[in-house]
Order: sequence, then structure tokens, then C-alpha cells
Amino acid sequence: MDINSISIAAYIVASLLFILSLAGLSKHESAKSGLTYGMVGMVIALAATIAVAVSDLNDLDFAGVSFNKWLPIGLLIAAVVVGGLIGLWRAKIVEMTGMPELIALLHSFVGLAAVLIGWNGAIQGAHLHDVAPDDQGAIIGIHAAEVAIGIFIGAVTFTGSIIANLKLSAKMKSAPLMLPGKNFINVGSIVVFAVLTGVYVARDDHADTTGYILLAVITVVALLLGLHLVASIGGGDMPVVVSMLNSYSGWAAAASGFLLNNDLLIVTGALVGSSGAYLSYIMCKAMNRSFISVIAGGFGIVAGPSDDTDYGEHREIQSDAAAELLAGAKSVVITPGYGMAVAQAQYPVADLTAKLRAKGVDVRFGIHPVAGRLPGHMNVLLAEAKVPYDIVLEMDEVNDDFPETDVVLVIGANDTVNPAAAEDPSSPIAGMPVLEVWNAKDVIVFKRSMAAGYAGVQNPLFFRDNTQMLFGDAKDRVEEIISAL
Ligand code: TAP
Repeated sequence: MDINSISIAAYIVASLLFILSLAGLSKHESAKSGLTYGMVGMVIALAATIAVAVSDLNDLDFAGVSFNKWLPIGLLIAAVVVGGLIGLWRAKIVEMTGMPELIALLHSFVGLAAVLIGWNGAIQGAHLHDVAPDDQGAIIGIHAAEVAIGIFIGAVTFTGSIIANLKLSAKMKSAPLMLPGKNFINVGSIVVFAVLTGVYVARDDHADTTGYILLAVITVVALLLGLHLVASIGGGDMPVVVSMLNSYSGWAAAASGFLLNNDLLIVTGALVGSSGAYLSYIMCKAMNRSFISVIAGGFGIVAGPSDDTDYGEHREIQSDAAAELLAGAKSVVITPGYGMAVAQAQYPVADLTAKLRAKGVDVRFGIHPVAGRLPGHMNVLLAEAKVPYDIVLEMDEVNDDFPETDVVLVIGANDTVNPAAAEDPSSPIAGMPVLEVWNAKDVIVFKRSMAAGYAGVQNPLFFRDNTQMLFGDAKDRVEEIISAL
């Protein structure tokens, strides 16, 4: 069997492992094995790709200088080792709260790689003219289209992901950029791309100065479009953007696969692209947003801030009084949010849960689909702290139960429990389904101040008659309640 047949077999095995990986990641119980499948698949894919590269390469002649074929292979392996070590180091030191921005940064690398591969394809495409006979003009045209589309998707992903990284790490304001005619800018950029690509593909020569200028303009338009698309999306709608960029990075990889003639990259890119698109769709449904309006970067258009409203006075509670309230409760629902991740409060929260359940209190968790900063963020934290899965419920499963709930503990959640989403049509988060915690008998909100949540909107829940604020770091406060109990 030659190396190409072995590599095809390896690519099929790797593709299957990637599919198993995605299937595994869709449930808590199988998430760990899903990751293992993905890692094994990636090792097989890299090994097969390097083996094919070794067998394909001959000694190179570049700018009149000859290079032994082992030089580029050595560089390739060195790049894999250095990249792998940096990846290991970053993964080891990253805080759980830093995961979303790290993932956005990784998406930007996929985008940048697709841009570079596109340009490399454009430069190499020049040689197609030397080798292809006249009747292969269509192949040259398809290659040119792959180059332009790959560069476009890659560049949008690259700059869009950098803006997402800045917004998620709070280095940039989460408020939407509202340039005049923002929809015109987005649609106009896509039209410019389509026209320039048509001109580029229709030309006989793609590797002359005009061809490169056309590609350079496509690259710049796509880079600016990526910046604008994500910058014009408001804070509360960022979850959809994260999954959308995930999807774009998959399509960028698939486009690179076509250019590099690598079937595995096409399959893997399509898997990431379609699963990311499906996740975006689920997120849109969960947040009551239009899927099309997200991919067009059209979020946050109508809403105006509703922050000037005077909601009156809030009430405070101390940890021992909160413990007393809990001790007398029959049913308790805990709704965690991003603040639980910041405080790393999941362990004491799990202890508190065990303690209350031992006293016969019915304790359950209500998880909003976009609580935290990553899909499934809260589920991961609670699983880490060994909270039993069967008491961790989705928003829809718990929302009707609040009127029969004695105490709700809102632990570091804010936007996801904001009644303005349901009651104030001018709110930037209007229409987003939220956990209707205000329907419970008593609500205790754990946070450090009266500051707004990620979407930058004040929360009228904090001023309701049945709400009491428990100020301070969520971990410290939960630990105090456990001692008091
Ligand atoms: P947020 O609205 O982000 O509010 C978190 C709250 O936690 C803050 O108000 C903060 O108030 C409090 N907090 C922070 N550190 C704390 C600590 N150490 N102890 C106690 N409280 C602390 O939370 P959420 O309800 O989970 O909503 C998530 C938001 O993020 C939504 O707007 C969502 O759209 C957005 N988002 C989600 C995702 C995904 S995929 N889940 C991705 C991007 C964006 P203090 O500062 O006063 O303490």
C-alpha cells in the first residue's frame, strides 16, 4: 500500500473520530470522551498530512537557490511543536472566565490561516497557467473563485474574531457601534466582494498586477466587514456572535481545504461550519432573535438604553438572615450566572446544595442558555463541582415552577434574570426569554454592587419588593451561609 492510500484511510478514520467527538460533546456524560476522540483524530490527521508532505516533496529551487526537501519538512514539524507547546501552555494557565476570549482568538487564527492559504493559492495558481492545457480554463477559474472566497471568509473571520476577543475580555465596550447606514455598509461590502470576485475569476490572467490588486481590495473589504459586523453587535447578543464566528472559522477551513486539495480539511471545516451554524440557530431561538439578522450583523438596531429609569430603593440582606430564610424553605432554585464563574463559587454552591438537600429541601438549578460567557458555561462549572445532573434544569423546564418556589438564589446572574427583557420593549435585551425568578416568594441576589450586567442594562429585579441584595464576592457569601446553616 502506498502512502496516499494510507493517508486516505487515516483521513477517513480522523473524520469519523471528529464526528464522534462532536456527538460526545453534546452531553455532559460523554463530553470527556468526546474530547479524547477529537484529540486522537487530530493527531492522526496531522501525522497523515506530514507523511504525505514528506512523500510529495522534492528538493526545492527557490529564487535560484536549491533547498533540500527536509528543510521545509523540518520547518513544518518545528511549527507544529512550537504551536503545540504554546497551545498547551495557554490551555493550562487560562482561567475558566478567560475561555470565551481565548476561543475567539483561536477562531481568528483559523481566519488568518485561510487568508494566507488563499494568497498562497493565488501565487501558486500562476503555475496552473504553465501546466494546464487551454481546455482547462474552467479549472483555473474554479481555482480563482476558491482563492477569492477563501480569502474573503478568512478575513471576515479574522478581524471579526479579534473584535469579539476584545469585547469578551472587556478591552472594548460591549455597546454596539452604530455607524450611520450600517446595513448599507454590510450589504455594500458583500456586493463589492461579489463584483470583484466575478471580475477576478473572469480574467484570463490572475497572477498579474491587476489580479493581485483585485485580491488585495477583496482582502481589505473583508477585513473591514469583519470589524464592522462584530463591532455593531450589542453586548447581550454576543453569544450568537461567538457561535457564528465558530461557524465562519469552519467554512474558512473548508475553503482552505479546497485550495490545498485536502479532503480532510474540507470535511472537518464543513463539520465545524455546520455545527457552529446550528448552534447559532439554537442560540437565536433561545434569545428570540432572527438568524438572518445575526449573520447580517443587524443586532441592536432598534433598542435604545432604558438606564435612566428610577426604579426606587433596593433592600439588602446579610448572610445569616439568608441562611435562616433557606433553612425555612421547602423549595429552592439556584440560577447561576457569569459572576459564579468569576467568583469560582461553584464548589461552595455544590456544598450548599448538598447541605440543603440533606435537610430535605428540594433544590434545583435553572440554567439560562446564555448564562456566563460560553454555551454550556454554567453546566461545565456545576459538573466540575459534581452537582448531580438531574437537578440541573434548562430555563424552559424550570420557568413555570417559580410561583411555587420559596427562595431563588441568583448567584452572579444579571441579564439572564432581567424582567426588562419581558416587560420593557425599549430595552436592548427586549424579547430575550429570561428566567422569571421574580415570580418566586423570595429572591436573593448575590453580587458585589448595583452594577449592570454584560449587556449594560440596569436590572429592575433588584428593586422588587420580594428581592434582597446580598453584596460581596459570591464565593465568600455562600461559604458564610454554609457556616450559618
Ligand atoms: P451578566 O449579565 O454578565 O452579569 C454577571 C453579574 O455577576 C454582574 O452583574 C456582576 O455584578 C456579578 N459578579 C461578577 N463577579 C462577581 C463575584 N465575584 N461575586 C458575585 N457577583 C459577581 O451574567 P449572566 O446573567 O450570566 O448573563 C450573561 C451575559 O453575557 C448575557 O448578556 C449574555 O448575552 C452575555 N454573553 C453570553 C455568552 C454565552 S455564549 N453564554 C457569550 C457572550 C456574552 P457585580 O459587578 O456588581 O458583582
